[in-house]
Amino acid sequence: MTAIVDIKDLRVEYRKGALGQGPKVAVDGLNLRVHQGEVFGFLGPNGAGKTTTMNVLLGFVNATSGTACLFGVNVNEPIARQRIGYLPELTYYYKFLTAEELLRFYARVFGIPRAETDKRIDELLKLVELQDARKRPIKSYSKGMQQRVGLAQALINDPDLLILDEPTSGLDPIGRMKVREIIQRLKNKGKTVFFSSHELGEVETVCDRVAILHQGKLVVEGRVDELVAKYQTNLEQVFLKVVGYQPAQV
Ligand SMILES: Nc1ncnc2c1ncn2[C@@H]1O[C@H](COP(=O)(O)OP(=O)(O)OP(=O)(O)O)[C@@H](O)[C@H]1O
Ligand SMILES: [Mg+2]
Repeated sequence: MTAIVDIKDLRVEYRKGALGQGPKVAVDGLNLRVHQGEVFGFLGPNGAGKTTTMNVLLGFVNATSGTACLFGVNVNEPIARQRIGYLPELTYYYKFLTAEELLRFYARVFGIPRAETDKRIDELLKLVELQDARKRPIKSYSKGMQQRVGLAQALINDPDLLILDEPTSGLDPIGRMKVREIIQRLKNKGKTVFFSSHELGEVETVCDRVAILHQGKLVVEGRVDELVAKYQTNLEQVFLKVVGYQPAQV
């Protein structure tokens, strides 16, 4: 199977920690492969190193050592990112733009021809169920709608790999279900989805494989069904076990 994401011995050290203290090792010897057509859940407690790893793939953060490749091309080469779509953990869009205008802006960034742009915008707004709101400014959208416009933006260049950093964070059950359905539809179209999440029930239903990161290190990786069978419990309990959670004595 082709590895779409191939991370080898990745280490990322920030020179200054987030609180201004000495160096901080955010990712420590990570090895990870995501294959074509997989929905892959990237899990771990707050601060585990998920966003940092994604930022290496996106070229926002440099690896201290080790390598990361997308489609077999080292992420140091900007062309490695030609076929990816990305939804950041926090989105900062111009809120006075409508969904349609925002997508048109990103289509121009990618140099997509006008006729093709119109077609894609129609398809994407249908996919994320924002046709009725397409002419309203984003500032009037609910959080779930804003998240879905972000997904449409990530898909404007018809990418083969989607990197989504907590796509369902802060959404209600309906909003989460909608995002889950979109991920499922993308998978059905043969796309590869690499996403981080804290919603373990949802990860369990939508992902083929998961990796759990803890303090920058990979502690578990495998098929969801195999992990659940091996540990004889649900993914949430597997997670709590491998990160060493001790229930408080009450
Ligand atoms: N720019 C930075 N400078 C210094 N330290 C950073 C920086 N970005 C992240 N860190 C630190 O690196 C570690 C990993 O952070 P990261 O954001 O990758 O975690 P995460 O798994 O995405 O967490 P969350 O689930 O909260 O989003 C944390 O200890 C964080 O404080
Ligand atoms: Mg993060």
